[in-house]
Amino acid sequence: MALETILSGNWIDIGLIGSLTLIVIVYLREKWDNLFAEKPKTPPTHKGWIPWLGLALEFGKGPLHFIDRKRKELGSVFSIKVAGEYMTFLTDPKDFQHFFLSPCLDFQKAVQGPVQNVASITKESFFKYHSSIHDLVKGKLAPSNLSPLMSHKLYKEFEEQLGKLPSHGKIDLNRLIRTIMYKSVLNIFFGKNILPTDNDEQYQILEEHFTKFDRQIEYGSKLPAFVLGAWSKSRKYLINMFQNIVDPEKQKSQELRPDDKTLLHNLLECVDKENAPNYSVLLLWATLANSIPMVFWTIAFIVTQESVYKKVCEEIERELPSTFETISDADLRKMPYLKSCILETVRLRSPGIIPRYVTKPFEVKGFTVPAGNLVFASPFWAHRNPEYYPDPETHKPERWNMKDVERNIFPEYFFAFGGGRFQCPGRWFGLMEIQIFAIMFLKQFKCEAFDPVPPPSPLHAVGTQQPEGPCMIEFTRLQGKC
Ligand code: HEM
Repeated sequence: MALETILSGNWIDIGLIGSLTLIVIVYLREKWDNLFAEKPKTPPTHKGWIPWLGLALEFGKGPLHFIDRKRKELGSVFSIKVAGEYMTFLTDPKDFQHFFLSPCLDFQKAVQGPVQNVASITKESFFKYHSSIHDLVKGKLAPSNLSPLMSHKLYKEFEEQLGKLPSHGKIDLNRLIRTIMYKSVLNIFFGKNILPTDNDEQYQILEEHFTKFDRQIEYGSKLPAFVLGAWSKSRKYLINMFQNIVDPEKQKSQELRPDDKTLLHNLLECVDKENAPNYSVLLLWATLANSIPMVFWTIAFIVTQESVYKKVCEEIERELPSTFETISDADLRKMPYLKSCILETVRLRSPGIIPRYVTKPFEVKGFTVPAGNLVFASPFWAHRNPEYYPDPETHKPERWNMKDVERNIFPEYFFAFGGGRFQCPGRWFGLMEIQIFAIMFLKQFKCEAFDPVPPPSPLHAVGTQQPEGPCMIEFTRLQGKC
């Protein structure tokens, strides 16, 4: 073949046409294959009438009720598209073990963004320290470390705070419990009076800021801070508060024996200096946000049901002498009815959603959730499945009779504390503080409730719900039996 012919362009044209034809064939073949290939079946999805914003508004107005409406409409596994993001919800407890143990789902990737928005902790710092912080809290609050040291600390704190109550009063139960519990827990985890628990005026300011911060934390985890003026102000107050504390506390901790260090001291030894105040705010939130409302719900469920109230008091009277100087783990084990009341409360006020990020396609109930989506298990709705919890809306401590509750062996379909590698590390402490507080409060005060147990606010999907209305009680200090 003459060189001129090749260079003349004819060969180039032929080559070009050949290549283009090949590309078209490959493209069509792929399209054809795709057309008939079995596509992964994604969960039934609701995208909303007004794309993007529509569903975000509907979801944001009351996420708990929204999840319930959609599961009735679409089934126990369903997806929604909110503000451009696909979110899949699981509401059947049978799927939860698989959810918590799946290697396709990731806890850290699901919470890193929200943590950055809420506490301004950088991505690098979060991935560097998160596992160590989790393991630290888990170790310090492991059952072997709780008794007798921690149970005695709780006893002493509650004794002091309950001692400050007048002998008689009428108050919203949530308010009463919040103040006593916040002060006690802050003294235990952050050091006696390190936060202003002994100064009424300063303490009120701290409680108000924390309450505002907690109330809107879900919005704060999604929206830019400037949209949430009051919330940002409270967040700033909390970070500034810790900025003044972290350096002297870290200094102090170097001279303390391991047993004398607080959880704050341990945290400060574990994280970077720049983010230390921000991690401290997260620790503050984790220690108060779920367990303190749970104390409120427990006492509310007990004092509003005459027969339950009577039975709890009889058990306390039977098992605890009239004068006692501490409450040990052994004492707690002798009160299974109280424990049942607490677990039944935890069942009814479990977190609305627990998130995970899909790293590899996740199969559930014959559906495939694609990588990049967020998946949420909903203990709140799973715990209302009548198949596992007949008459689910009723608070029935008796349903825990059959379980080995004193030894913390829970039924298969109970997920209030999450699961897997990053299951709640504070759960044993949480249960213990509710038990000890309930014993001490009910032994010292007689209560009369003027309201029924208020409904849980549907506004929050993450964590324990807040009450939607007041629960007024009259309390009178007892001289003898409860
Ligand atoms: C009844 C009270 C409580 C409930 C219902 C509760 C529930 C939960 C749930 C559902 C999670 C997420 C777990 C997961 O994703 O699998 C969690 C995480 C966590 N909880 Fe609790 N919790 C309670 C009390 C406490 C207490 C008292 C503390 C500390 C003193 C605490 C500290 C934490 C921490 C630090 C995390 C985050 C773990 C991490 O980032 O790795 N919790 N909790």
